[in-house]
Amino acid sequence: MKTLIIAGHPDLQKSRINSIWTEALRQQKDITVHVLSEVYPDGKMDVAKEQALLDAHDRIILQYPLYWYATPPLLKQWMDEVFEYGWAFGPGGEHLKGKEFGIAISTVGSAAAYQPGGSNLFTVREVLKPMEAVANYVGAHYLPPFAFHSANHVTEEEISAGKDAYLGHLAKVRSVKTPEPVTMIR
Ligand SMILES: Cc1cc2nc3c(=O)[nH]c(=O)nc-3n(C[C@H](O)[C@H](O)[C@H](O)COP(=O)(O)O)c2cc1C
Repeated sequence: MKTLIIAGHPDLQKSRINSIWTEALRQQKDITVHVLSEVYPDGKMDVAKEQALLDAHDRIILQYPLYWYATPPLLKQWMDEVFEYGWAFGPGGEHLKGKEFGIAISTVGSAAAYQPGGSNLFTVREVLKPMEAVANYVGAHYLPPFAFHSANHVTEEEISAGKDAYLGHLAKVRSVKTPEPVTMIR
């Protein structure tokens, strides 16, 4: 199983969580880490190169800090440009079919805030429904997402534990009928 991490953080120099994740993942066997802000600082994407990268992997993980309940703009642009008609969907568009498709997010909101009745109104699974729909649309198998909460309020120890939990999640996560998220930290 070859895993491709598409890291959508806009600036890893200013990151506490996604930078640690990216660094740890780079040491792992069978994982390719692709940091969009480093590969495309000018935002001009090589679509054919991105598609070839996706073709070469069985599992795609989009990793990003949650921004307004969505992805940072560079990652949205990547999806808009790379998941093309005739490639990801439509006639001949079967390149993502059968691949595993997963999400790993960090949020400033706490785990409690992402519970039913919590201050963010929706659960992580609900917030990520558009991603679940994308996976369905392109024929990929949606994985239970990983979420690390309270990102701006955690200690170094909690960040390290979160990183270990994320690596453990990637090692054991499987596609299931009800992809409930795995959440980490209060
Ligand atoms: C523009 C912007 C929008 C954000 N929107 C959300 C949000 O909708 N929900 C949330 O829980 N956190 C939100 N945050 C907080 C980030 O998710 C948080 O700072 C990030 O996950 C921390 O990860 P990092 O240390 O890798 O940057 C937002 C932050 C920014 C800058």
